[in-house]
Amino acid sequence: MHSYNFDCVIDRSGTSAVKIDGLDRVFGRHDLTPLWIADLDFAVCPQITEALFKRLQHPVLGYSEPGASYWQSIIDWNLRRHGFGIAREELCFIPGVVKGIALAVNFFTREGDAVLIQPPVYTPFRTVVEGNGRRIVENPLIFEDGNYRMDLDGLRKVVTEHKPKMMVLCNPHNPIGIQWDKETLAEVAAICRQAGVVVVSDEIHGDLMLHGRSHIPFLSAGEDARAIGVMLGAPSKTFNIPGLVSSWMVVKNPELRERFYKWLEVNEFSAPVLISTIGAEAAYNNGEAWLDQMLRYVEANIDFVEDYCRRNIPEISVVRPQASFLLWLDFRRLNLCQREIMEMLLDKAHLALNDGTMFGSQGAGFARLNIGTPRCVLASALESLAAAVHSSARCCCNNN
Ligand SMILES: Cc1ncc(COP(=O)(O)O)c(C=O)c1O
Repeated sequence: MHSYNFDCVIDRSGTSAVKIDGLDRVFGRHDLTPLWIADLDFAVCPQITEALFKRLQHPVLGYSEPGASYWQSIIDWNLRRHGFGIAREELCFIPGVVKGIALAVNFFTREGDAVLIQPPVYTPFRTVVEGNGRRIVENPLIFEDGNYRMDLDGLRKVVTEHKPKMMVLCNPHNPIGIQWDKETLAEVAAICRQAGVVVVSDEIHGDLMLHGRSHIPFLSAGEDARAIGVMLGAPSKTFNIPGLVSSWMVVKNPELRERFYKWLEVNEFSAPVLISTIGAEAAYNNGEAWLDQMLRYVEANIDFVEDYCRRNIPEISVVRPQASFLLWLDFRRLNLCQREIMEMLLDKAHLALNDGTMFGSQGAGFARLNIGTPRCVLASALESLAAAVHSSARCCCNNN
């Protein structure tokens, strides 16, 4: 079997990479090791670039309509990887997962309606809802003994008190990497169905399951979930092709689906894009070995960070993820406020990590580290972090 090299450091400058070119805009400086926005620093599987090159050899790039093989690649992938069956009519192209959330918010809710999220959670869940004049209601996750769980009693209470029209679920949950179990998903579905809440389940991290865990699509959690669920998926995180923007949506319930899909179609929101469908099909049909090797590399990166922190920076603890390549780091033992944590990361360690409070006020004391990068990059980042923590600790002692 071909062995892929994830140790290779690839210079991404000059490629319009947000991770690099966005440093000044987001962090106010560019002398930082970029370990923030959730894409991988690894080369994509060569079959994807080969498929794109092949198509680009044809000189005409007109309007496109993907054939049956594109749709089948998504259906086969979900069945093969997750045991999740999708019928062709349940599937629809969307121009990005966040745009899929935005489209669902616009179609299923009205201005002033409440939409429920569970922070700390991926920032656009809030910005899309608020930016469209809807109200956020929160059911924060519970953090106990180093682990997060969903507050199902809280969910019942918020749904009863605030009567949201929609819940945006993160499954697996970014930034923590939790895959919700089937019982939890079924309970969410029962609570929401009874209250007439549509559940939009963002499953963009679902293919990135670690340590032998299985992804459980929300729509596989029983009849209630199928009645009210809108599932969003994509090959973008899975195969490191977010720049191609090739996402899809599944709605099982025909009553929920028919008007929604018609609205997407007449507005041409669901019109596939030539390059994205070619990349997606190549990835789903030929990228499995690359993905499996990439996930083993990410698992080893998690062990590497955990081991390094245990030995050298025991003040920082790692919340072990069940999925994806993002590590939620707990800095609270340093007794620094969030501003001081971020100053330490930026000014002393020269590292661009996501500020935990981007994901909600519940993220205070935390930062998110993207470990989808070669181990040598991670090793040097951890050394800088250790030095910064130790000098900050000394400063604190001196101040006291
Ligand atoms: C949970 C989640 N949803 C959506 C996205 C972005 O998806 P897209 O680029 O397809 O809008 C991300 C990217 O980090 C994410 O973590």
